[in-house]
Amino acid sequence: MSSNYKIGGILISEREICERVRSLAERIASDTAPGGDLLVVGILNGAAIFLSDLARHMPPELDVRIDFMAISSYGDSTQSSGAVRIVKDLGGGIEGKDVLIVEDIIDTGLTLSYLIDIMLTRKPARLRTCVLLDKHERRERPVEVDYCGFQIPDAFVAGYGLDCGGKWRHLPAIHVVELG
Ligand code: IMP
Ligand code: MG
Repeated sequence: MSSNYKIGGILISEREICERVRSLAERIASDTAPGGDLLVVGILNGAAIFLSDLARHMPPELDVRIDFMAISSYGDSTQSSGAVRIVKDLGGGIEGKDVLIVEDIIDTGLTLSYLIDIMLTRKPARLRTCVLLDKHERRERPVEVDYCGFQIPDAFVAGYGLDCGGKWRHLPAIHVVELG
């Protein structure tokens, strides 16, 4: 399906992303107990690039651990199926831990709300969520997001980890995807 699409103009530049990611990391760190532990959980594949930049802006005083989870919700389409399943689980338990879920984008909210429910059954001491992008208008399920990079309009976007049919994750900026 991605062959019917082409990469469009830049919605959020590399520089804007860089500045925003730094300030998100500072806020997250300042909301975390000094000298505390933080388990940062990236949702593959979309959040990999965002997480790698976000984590590198966190101060050395924080004991930061990184793990990943993969959830399947979109397949190769630009439409949400509503179905989500764990494709890859965390390497260890999260009971009693301070956990930060890092996701690329919240759209309908189905993926994140499902993830939050799963994580809460594992009894973390604290659970926070951080998303780079929020398509607020498309929300179908209310989800509490603690840290958000940018609110964006209802357009399909790619770049900086986000894909369209597996393509364009490597682009350093966020672009709008257009019909080709
Ligand atoms: P939700 O379950 O509808 O909130 O969808 C969240 C997931 O859909 C994200 O993790 C992305 O993988 C994918 N997604 C939603 N919108 C976009 C987009 O504009 N570009 C790329 N992926 C998207
Ligand atoms: Mg995703």
